[in-house]
Amino acid sequence: MQQKINIYADAEEASQALVDIFINSAETSITNQGYFSAVLSGGGTPQRFFELLSQPANAQKVSWENVHFFWADDRCVPPNQDGSNYKQARLALLDHIPIPAQNIWRIKTELACEQAAENYSEQLFDFAQKYQSEQASNWPNFDFVLLGMGNDGHTASIFPNSPLCHNISVRIASADYEDRPSMRVTLTEAVLNYAHNIYYLILGDSKSSIIRTVLVESDDILLYPLLRIRPVNGTVTYMLDSSSSSLLPIRPNCI
Ligand code: 6PG
Repeated sequence: MQQKINIYADAEEASQALVDIFINSAETSITNQGYFSAVLSGGGTPQRFFELLSQPANAQKVSWENVHFFWADDRCVPPNQDGSNYKQARLALLDHIPIPAQNIWRIKTELACEQAAENYSEQLFDFAQKYQSEQASNWPNFDFVLLGMGNDGHTASIFPNSPLCHNISVRIASADYEDRPSMRVTLTEAVLNYAHNIYYLILGDSKSSIIRTVLVESDDILLYPLLRIRPVNGTVTYMLDSSSSSLLPIRPNCI
């Protein structure tokens, strides 16, 4: 695994930088393999990234017919209800871009949670078979994975002290985090660790202490699930701003 830490002046700059990365990665992947697979997350942090990406000046640079969207996790609420990560992305991004419906591989949260997890894992299998059969892999090797981190070190819906997952791609999780409903469906570290590129967008003062803990002080993968994400043949890039990085002792790769 390769790790990079990019520090930007503020949230706006970091979000725009991630948009530029998305556009360039999409172009490279589509040129090389004909498609671009991107995983989105929920939470407040990616909202500005979605909005910026959907703006015509950015959106017109992407061949949307070759882009496939997945989600790192979602809450077990209907997809038209607040709290749905799919709904958040739809309103801020998907509704504004010409992406074919069959390229949206969403977690079917209108189903019972266990069924939604099973269905999502089948979708991942189907995608892998259709688009990367030559690699004989049952799981997608995602090109771009956007993740966030909670103040407790969780990422996607992989929460502190949850069991380590080595052989399944999707599982359900029950969590009591802030005011967000508890039942969720999440990708596991097993499938995330097959990704080519993971981008953590972690912004603001409230994340400064936990960022220091996970990047400098601890290697406890049970307590801080973000540390489980170490793609075998991929890169993890931390996209921080001056606030979230303020307690880091060093500032590598300052932009
Ligand atoms: C979710 C996420 C979750 C999120 C973190 C950070 O659906 O809530 O996928 O893992 O990324 O909780 O959330 P914030 O961006 O709101 O801090």
